Amino acid sequence: MNNQSNGKSRLEMNRHMNKERNTNGMSRRQFLQTSAASAMFLSLGGVRSFAAPSAGTPGNSIPWVTLNNGLKMPRLGLGTMTLTGDVGVRCVADAISLGYRLIDTAMIYGTEVPVGEGIKQSGIKREELFITSKLWKTDMGYEKARKGFQTSLDKLKTDYLDLYLIHRPSGGDWKGSWKAMEELYHQGKIKAIGMSNADFAQMDDLMANSEVKPAIHQIETHAFFQEGKACDYLKQHGIQMEAWAPFAEGRHGLFTNNTLAAIARKHNKTVAQVCLRWHLQRGIVAIPRSSRKAHIAENVNIFDFSLDDSDLAAISPLDLNTTQFPEWS
Ligand SMILES: NC(=O)c1ccc[n+]([C@@H]2O[C@H](COP(=O)([O-])OP(=O)(O)OC[C@H]3O[C@@H](n4cnc5c(N)ncnc54)[C@H](OP(=O)(O)O)[C@@H]3O)[C@@H](O)[C@H]2O)c1
Repeated sequence: MNNQSNGKSRLEMNRHMNKERNTNGMSRRQFLQTSAASAMFLSLGGVRSFAAPSAGTPGNSIPWVTLNNGLKMPRLGLGTMTLTGDVGVRCVADAISLGYRLIDTAMIYGTEVPVGEGIKQSGIKREELFITSKLWKTDMGYEKARKGFQTSLDKLKTDYLDLYLIHRPSGGDWKGSWKAMEELYHQGKIKAIGMSNADFAQMDDLMANSEVKPAIHQIETHAFFQEGKACDYLKQHGIQMEAWAPFAEGRHGLFTNNTLAAIARKHNKTVAQVCLRWHLQRGIVAIPRSSRKAHIAENVNIFDFSLDDSDLAAISPLDLNTTQFPEWS
């Protein structure tokens, strides 16, 4: 396990967490190690099926994907990092009114309360929504994970989560956390569990030794860091890949990139829409964040066009094959 936080003082940890809140600049845990190529197939820990949302709701314009435990998840959602307070409440309510059903939050973002309030204001039934939260690294270990989970539920004002992820397994007893999450999964308090920012060795370890296999892996993925190897690995193991920072937060000039702009012009779409369509066509769930209703609407308007082979071929060489968030590596 690549352990970046071991040995850090509480002060350093707090500084680290504050920086995370303030800069949006979380990097993924790098998939540095080649997979040990554990060719095992998933043995699902307790396959269960869950009700799909009822037909005819606006959210159904966004396609849903079936995860490895039978749970259905929207293929596009709203990211909420930095959307704190009233802004967060408004964005979540706006997104739901525009058809979003997947909302991604995390304890460390400080957005669980506004997400809960936005959901309440939306008037949409809880069971129509797909809510993700994440266990931060200060809550690693069996007991702390159980408490951390309950705190997230309380803040979100809900009695279950659709998806709960280990946010950053870079220190502490993350396997104890996984054990707690497996129990909560079996109790029906979490419908799917997964990882974020794990490396290949950690994923191999979970595949080989856990009772409930991860349904999701959420990692930094965008045109400048395409994560082809991770994509292949996750497909091979039946784990749904989810992209954080699907726009690289606009870093490296993503929104003005000439190649992406030319493709956008060709389809009469925007660069943001081209990026999200590219994620969709790669089979990756994306959770773009926006604080503006116009952008939230633009980002969900990607289901009426397709990128063709020449577009995909043009995007491929944009890959810099490295994180755009080096401060978190
Ligand atoms: N698991 C992890 O470690 C991890 C790490 C980072 C993020 N995440 C999750 O992933 C989500 C998304 O990643 P992110 O927030 O880092 O960045 P992102 O979604 O790649 O980019 C957000 C930026 O894009 C802009 N934007 C959004 N839509 C736009 C549009 N249509 N046109 C132009 N600009 C647009 C936003 O500005 P405006 O507000 O002005 O629209 C904002 O500045 C997060 O919110 C969080 O939920 C997870």
